[in-house]
Amino acid sequence: AKTAQKRDFLDLTDVGASDLRLMLDQAKTLKASRDGVHRGKGPLAGKVLAMVFERPSTRTRVSFDVGMRELGGETLMLTGAEMQLGRGETIADTARVLSRFVDGIMIRILDHAALTELAENATVPVINGLTRKSHPCQIMADIMTYEEHRGPIAGKTIAWVGDGNNVLASWVHAAARFDFTMRIATPPELALRAGPIDWARENGGRVEVTTDAFEAVDGADCVVTDTWVSMGDKERERRHNLLMPYQVNDRLMAAADKDAIFMHCLPAHREEEVTTSVMDGPQSVVFDEAENRLHAQKGVLAWCFGAI
Ligand code: CP
Ligand code: NVA
Repeated sequence: AKTAQKRDFLDLTDVGASDLRLMLDQAKTLKASRDGVHRGKGPLAGKVLAMVFERPSTRTRVSFDVGMRELGGETLMLTGAEMQLGRGETIADTARVLSRFVDGIMIRILDHAALTELAENATVPVINGLTRKSHPCQIMADIMTYEEHRGPIAGKTIAWVGDGNNVLASWVHAAARFDFTMRIATPPELALRAGPIDWARENGGRVEVTTDAFEAVDGADCVVTDTWVSMGDKERERRHNLLMPYQVNDRLMAAADKDAIFMHCLPAHREEEVTTSVMDGPQSVVFDEAENRLHAQKGVLAWCFGAI
């Protein structure tokens, strides 16, 4: 059932660097020309995107919904619990049925294998709106944000401090695709699995791994963190204890380059992974980063639907 030309956006590993750059260029152009909301016309007129959420979302949900409308298309919001998926209809059958109704599917589902199974059985493009393993749409917005503030990311050093989670995995993939150095500090117990790191290194990415937060941020161009407890995580207290030395605070930021920026995909937990002083401080670009989810998503959508 798979269409040869179908453009899925499942992971940065599946899409080449030139296509990723095309999406970001498109995002930049669309951002610059955004004078209000353009409903009803545009390159995706007549297209319907189904948005399936097995888990909560603010940014992903709103940015895809508004982005699709600004490109002239329409959206359908579906939550896993409201669908027959919640009553045991298989993901493959769901993919086959949705493909008869809509032109694309964006899904947030923790089980990454379910995402790939959906993509294999859908005849329309499928977009990863976050799984336990990765969050590629987020990193497209993050690259866009870094470059808006500091110019080309190629050759720069990005430091991740905290949990070895899904967002980090996509940052590591991006290190190979966009040619920057990824420095990672996590507690050994919460290290990122080997898969993304091995893939990035095999594809020319520079990935440096430590357990020391100060070593990771030393002279870095950007400091990034994320929640200590991701969707699906258990053992909140154990995680907090392990991650406390990885809090991004003023002392840690002072060890980075003086022009370093701070990023966080949000939602943030103030005084946990990041202090309010950093989050609301002069180096933080977190709300530009949140806004860029919209513009980056539009680039991804335009690519998936063959408009670029
Ligand atoms: N950053 C991000 O994906 O946020 P949401 O969970 O609100 O979509
Ligand atoms: N790592 C977080 C990101 C939320 C956008 C999670 O998976 O819950």
